[in-house]
Amino acid sequence: MLSKVKIIDIPEITAPDGSGTLAVVEKDCIPFQIKRVYYLYNVPASATRGGHAHKKLLQCLVALNGSFTIKLNDGNSETSYTLDSPNKALFIPNKIWRDMENFSKGAICLSLVSEEYDEADYIRNYKDFLKFKKD
Ligand code: TYD
Repeated sequence: MLSKVKIIDIPEITAPDGSGTLAVVEKDCIPFQIKRVYYLYNVPASATRGGHAHKKLLQCLVALNGSFTIKLNDGNSETSYTLDSPNKALFIPNKIWRDMENFSKGAICLSLVSEEYDEADYIRNYKDFLKFKKD
């Protein structure tokens, strides 16, 4: 399952006059239809976010500002990614446990997701996650 995790390059347009960069997220860029967008900020450096898996929801994360680390676990193996660029999206399929940590000061984490918010889609207990993966 971790083999489906990937970093996606978000196309960007850099103004030739040096006036900045514009990144464009279009439907061909993201491997699902985006139903909702939310973002995380004011995260203390000592905080851990995530601590859950989704049964169905697919997600892309982008560090719009600053950086943070995402640890991913599919019940068998682990990997981690540090996002620190607004033109990179991390695609996380469903059924993957994630923890997010090491937020830099001012970090903003954009989430693009495939589903409406539904607490029933979350698995928030790691033992339940392992059981869910076996069933
Ligand atoms: P959660 O998805 O666990 O955030 P993170 O993965 O960043 O730690 O959500 C944190 C809290 O916010 C949790 O109580 C559920 C709530 N929440 C909503 O009410 N609506 C939403 O759209 C989202 C994403 C979360």
